[in-house]
Amino acid sequence: MSFFDRLILQCRAGFEKEAAAEITERASELGFYGYCMLDQDAGYLSFHLPEPGTAEKLISALSFRSLIFIRQWSVAGECLSLEGGDRVGQILPYLPEFPDCCEVVVEYPDTTAGRELAGFSRKFGSALAQHLRKAGVLKKGSENRLSLFVLSGQRIFLGYMPRRNSSGWLCGILRLKFPQQAPSRSTLKLEEAWHWFVPAKQWDERLPFGATAVDLGAAPGGWTWQLVQRNMFVTAVDNGPMQPALMESGQVEHVKEDAYSFAPAKPVNWMVCDVVDKPVRTAHLAVEWMLNGWCDEMIFNLKLPMKQRYQETRQCLNLIEDQLAAAGIGFKLSARHLYHDREEITCHLRRLK
Ligand SMILES: C[S@@+](CC[C@H](N)C(=O)[O-])C[C@H]1O[C@@H](n2cnc3c(N)ncnc32)[C@H](O)[C@@H]1O
Repeated sequence: MSFFDRLILQCRAGFEKEAAAEITERASELGFYGYCMLDQDAGYLSFHLPEPGTAEKLISALSFRSLIFIRQWSVAGECLSLEGGDRVGQILPYLPEFPDCCEVVVEYPDTTAGRELAGFSRKFGSALAQHLRKAGVLKKGSENRLSLFVLSGQRIFLGYMPRRNSSGWLCGILRLKFPQQAPSRSTLKLEEAWHWFVPAKQWDERLPFGATAVDLGAAPGGWTWQLVQRNMFVTAVDNGPMQPALMESGQVEHVKEDAYSFAPAKPVNWMVCDVVDKPVRTAHLAVEWMLNGWCDEMIFNLKLPMKQRYQETRQCLNLIEDQLAAAGIGFKLSARHLYHDREEITCHLRRLK
C-alpha cells in the first residue's frame, strides 16, 4: 500500500465545486480517473486516486499554472490524527515513504476557522523544519517541499508538493498592500494579475514606462491607477466618473462611451477590461480586439455569478481559442481565479509574434 492516495486542492471558499469539476476534467484528459470529496465553503477538497502511484504521477503530469480554480495543491495520504504533546515525533515515522524535500510548508484553509490556525502552523512548521534539518532529512536543492495542510492542532494532511509545479505563495495567496491613493480596492486585481501572468523579469519589456493602454469599464480608476503607476498613457472608457486626483496625473483621457462599441484610434500595448456584463459578451470583445490587432496583450475579467461557473468559464475560453485559431492568430490564453477575485475570474490574452 502506498501512503499517497489523493491530492489536496486549495481554492477560495465557496468554489470547491468549480475546483472539483476542473480537476476531474483535467485529470481525465490525461487518463487519470479519481473522485472528489468536498464540503461546501471548506476552502479545499480532496481528489482521490486509490491506485498506488497515480496521485504522484498526476501532480507531475498536470501543469499547475494551467489550473484556474485551484490555488495550491499537494499529494497526501489520509488525514492524520495527532495526539497532543510531541507532534513532530508523530510525523517522523511517515517520512521514509517521501521523496527528498528541501523545505517544510505548513498551510491551512483560507476560511475564518482556517486562518486562526496561522500562528500554530507557523510554529509547528518551524519546529518540524528545525528537527528535520538537524537530522539531515531536508535536502537543499530537492525538487519537492514537504507539505502539511492543517485542519486543526490534531488533524493534518501530510504530503509533498513539487517545488516547480505548485504555488510559491503560502496557501497560494499573493498578499498585496492596498495603496491608499488608489481610487478603489479593485486596483489589487490588476496588480495581482500582472504578478501571476507576467514573469517579474519581463515587466520592463512588457509593462514598459510610456506604453499605451485602454481601460474598459474604468471608473473610478483602480486599474487605470495601476497603469499610471507604470507611467502608461491611458484611455479610460466609462460613463461613470473617474477619481479627480487620478485625472490630474495628465496621463489619462476619460472617454464616456460604451466599452463594447469603443474602438481605439491607434493600436495600444494593453487593453484591460473590468466591465460587469455577461462573460460571453466579454469573451467576444476580447476576440474582436485580437482580430483587429488593437492591442498586444489584454487582461479581462469574466464575471461568474451563475451556478455553472466552471462550465461557463470553459465555454468562454473555448470560444476565444476556437475563433482565434480559426483566424490563424498566434496567441496565449490563460485564466486564473485570483485571490482578489470574488465571483469572477481573470484572463490574460497575449498575441504571439
Ligand atoms: C467593477 S467596475 C470597474 C472598477 C475599476 N476597474 C476600478 O478598478 O476602479 C465596472 C465599471 O464598468 C462600467 N461599465 C459597465 N458597463 C459598461 C459598458 N457597457 N461600457 C463602459 N463601461 C461600463 C461601470 O460604469 C463601472 O464603472
